[in-house]
Amino acid sequence: MRPWNLRLTDRLIQPSDFAHRRRRLLDGMRPGSIALVPGGIEQRRNRDINFPFRQDSDFYYLTGFCEPDALLVLIPGRDQGEAIVFCRERDAASERRDGPVLGPEACQLALGVDDGFPVSDLDDILPGLLEGRTQVYMNLGEHLLWDHRLMMYLEHLAKQRSADEPEVGEIVTLGHLLHEQRLIKSAKEQELMAQAAQISVAAQCRALDVISPGLTEADIEAELHYSYRRQGARSEAYPSIVAAGENACILHYVQNASVLLDGDLVLIDAGCELQYYASDVTRTYPVSGRFSSAQRDIYDIVLAANRAAIDACRPGNHFNQPHEAATLVLVEGLIELGLLQGDSEQLIAQGDHEKYCPHKTSHWLGLDVHDVGDYRLGNLWRDLMPGMVLTVEPGIYIPRDDSTAEIAEAYRGLGIRIEDAVLIQKQGCQVLTEGLIKDPDDIEAWMATRADRTDMTRVVA
Ligand code: GLY
Ligand code: MN
Repeated sequence: MRPWNLRLTDRLIQPSDFAHRRRRLLDGMRPGSIALVPGGIEQRRNRDINFPFRQDSDFYYLTGFCEPDALLVLIPGRDQGEAIVFCRERDAASERRDGPVLGPEACQLALGVDDGFPVSDLDDILPGLLEGRTQVYMNLGEHLLWDHRLMMYLEHLAKQRSADEPEVGEIVTLGHLLHEQRLIKSAKEQELMAQAAQISVAAQCRALDVISPGLTEADIEAELHYSYRRQGARSEAYPSIVAAGENACILHYVQNASVLLDGDLVLIDAGCELQYYASDVTRTYPVSGRFSSAQRDIYDIVLAANRAAIDACRPGNHFNQPHEAATLVLVEGLIELGLLQGDSEQLIAQGDHEKYCPHKTSHWLGLDVHDVGDYRLGNLWRDLMPGMVLTVEPGIYIPRDDSTAEIAEAYRGLGIRIEDAVLIQKQGCQVLTEGLIKDPDDIEAWMATRADRTDMTRVVA
């Protein structure tokens, strides 16, 4: 069986791990409360065809269950059971068409929850579970259908409630509790994320072996996706960005339709998803195999910023310190090249550097590529702690437009980003994507000798 189809018990994260996560969440909930965690709903692509279904990350984190139309209910201290799942019922005709469905009884057993009910019985059962609960935890605004359902049930309960019964006093976002939990990755999560990173690294090595003038961005994207699937990752974690030449100045360029031209750079920002965990890595390569002197000027600054940010990834530093370290290197480099004028700290304070460096350096990485978890606690940047995974992705982008008409032509149209995924450890950090070369001399040497290696790397990935 293909790894992306693994049964629950064959995945690295096991039913007992999901149960442990539910226990921790239940322990953090207030007495008398209830949490509703809706699973994902299928999205129509066109006519009777849906997009490939991908489970909601919060729901997956707590269950490992991958079918659509499910709901997890958690009720701390409930004598008859604290964890209940609603899911689709089995149906021979639809299973022949769309594949097997677990059904409530098997789902209860497989997930190790206390009860399993058909989702079609929700209207009969859920109001009874909500009754008498003083607080409801749910992420509102994410699934409008579920928001609407909750309001309907609460309205119904309010009408029926007698004066001496408690009423639901608060609806609280579940994120405060759950996303703090998701932010610190367990040993198994770290292992999966390291594997996902390694698959993406191998895929980019494969792509690097074929980059040459005349190919299209789509050809490179195809190499990446082929490699993901051959290595057991079902899909990308986000739409792959393969941006040649000036396209790299569009931060989330996903058209991937242009031709790679001799003399251009190509930026590849692409990562696979493995057993629901994302990877995210970016490199920028010369299409011809050699950087021009202007490309190398900018590349060296971005690489120095990437390294300075990684140096700042350690416990005790706060989340923004890698960004601050990277930004200073970027701005001082741009001043040295004459692309910015003035004092670095003043330029940064005024935001003048954003003309060329418009985005932040890091985001959390986990089940979601832009993973959950607050970046600040109150007004302060939160401290980095072991088990957190973040990206480090400084970039310089110099579009060929009116805003850059005054600068040397060789710098115009360049977009360079170098991104790694970084796991914070007790001391310092581990760069999960460090297997992918980024030193410009190494890149040129690799591209110059790749004909000798092509057969070998194709077997590997
Ligand atoms: N690599 C895509 C992003 O971070 O937005
Ligand atoms: Mn990223």
